[in-house]
Amino acid sequence: MLKTKIAVLVSGGGTNLQALIDAQRIGKIKSGEIALVLSSNPTAFALSRAKNAGIPTVTVARKKCKDSAEFEEKIIKALDKYGAEIIVLAGFMSILSADFTKKYENRIINVHPSLIPAFCGKGFYGLAVHEAALSYGVKVTGATVHFVNEIPDGGKIISQKAIKVNKDDTPESLQKRVMRMCEWKILPEACEKVCADIAKSKPDEKQNTRKGK
Ligand code: GAR
Repeated sequence: MLKTKIAVLVSGGGTNLQALIDAQRIGKIKSGEIALVLSSNPTAFALSRAKNAGIPTVTVARKKCKDSAEFEEKIIKALDKYGAEIIVLAGFMSILSADFTKKYENRIINVHPSLIPAFCGKGFYGLAVHEAALSYGVKVTGATVHFVNEIPDGGKIISQKAIKVNKDDTPESLQKRVMRMCEWKILPEACEKVCADIAKSKPDEKQNTRKGK
């Protein structure tokens, strides 16, 4: 079966990218292959992780684009160049327009560090999500992987994993635990599932060869 080409969009440390790279290496992601890592931030450590794994990288610096249209045009160009069929947002800190999300309907997935619909949407990213969860006083939190549509964190949920909040948790300790126990597990699993679904829907490579296509 032809593997689904994955583009991972990042902006920061890239621990979720690393989880995807590791999952691919040990065969947990077998229906897809990471064909591109694209960063909106030229100094993101995620770029080094990609280079270490021999994955092509592209930087489209958000700050150097005059507006979001130019930013997205450049992203689309890179996605086309590397033949991306699925886009994984792994700590990508820009909100994508409705035009962009429509173009890749059911082809963009995102990992968010809370149990959606709690603590999500505009302004809820990174550590701020865990600060909000702690100040609300929730007893459980976790992570969500969902398809991306025009509503920030509003697309169809693919999977979720919950953990207990400890009495002595700080935003930092909670963030670390949610990443380790939730995000790094459910993101590769969801990615494999979506890649497998796309791969299954593609015409069989051997049949095409036989027909001389
Ligand atoms: C992760 O916790 C991810 O869920 C979050 O940013 C962090 C990126 O870490 N994303 C969001 O908050 C998106 N709304 P990483 O660069 O180490 O993967």
